[in-house]
Amino acid sequence: MPIRLDERLTCIANLVDYGRVADVGCDHGKLGYYLIGTDRASSVIATDISEGSLKKARELAYENGVTERMQTRLGDGLAPVANGEVDTVVIAGLGGDVISRILASAREERKRFAHFVLSPNTHPEKVRREIVSQSHKIVYDDIVECGGKRYTVIKTEEGKEELDELQILFGAFYKDNASFAEYAKQELEYKQNILKKHSDKELLDRVELLKAALANVRG
Ligand SMILES: C[S@@+](CC[C@H](N)C(=O)[O-])C[C@H]1O[C@@H](n2cnc3c(N)ncnc32)[C@H](O)[C@@H]1O
Repeated sequence: MPIRLDERLTCIANLVDYGRVADVGCDHGKLGYYLIGTDRASSVIATDISEGSLKKARELAYENGVTERMQTRLGDGLAPVANGEVDTVVIAGLGGDVISRILASAREERKRFAHFVLSPNTHPEKVRREIVSQSHKIVYDDIVECGGKRYTVIKTEEGKEELDELQILFGAFYKDNASFAEYAKQELEYKQNILKKHSDKELLDRVELLKAALANVRG
């Protein structure tokens, strides 16, 4: 059965290079099934911390006859995946604090993977900080719009990364990203309007960071 993904999962799927993939926090399992069905992955390990979620992925794989190429495993983060067992780890649809914790636990256990494709719902800056600690470098860092929301999508590979604080906050390639500039201008205007009515230190700090980032945007 062919499957259609939304814009967010399509963007994530397009970033996966052919090979062995782990989809951590797979829930419905649609991404893994799509990767197998479109031959974008040789095999998928779909993991989830919730048995209820994993059941959906298991049924999807079973009903479509792909259980030999799509395994399901229960567990927290990368605990069910061994060091180097897959080429690409996808973690999408979780908060940046959870994703960075999952990556840090794997790092502490000396697990290495060639690529990460990460899409935090919140706190992308925590994920970028952890990527630097992983000795991975960012090769893709953009925002995809889906269902009226904006989602950060990041791809990494092994290598040394140096990001300044503005890149950590706004994305490795924010200086050349037209959609970042548009989003930052909207956020700046919104926050400046609030500041006209109330003084707020946190808001003021964010305004200064947005101004500094916008001043660096090229073109
Ligand atoms: C919102 S869904 C995202 C599903 C899919 N990855 C996507 O992007 O559409 C989050 C899933 O992550 C699972 N999850 C949450 N914390 C987890 C953890 N620490 N390890 C593994 N899975 C986790 C949840 O059970 C849930 O199925």
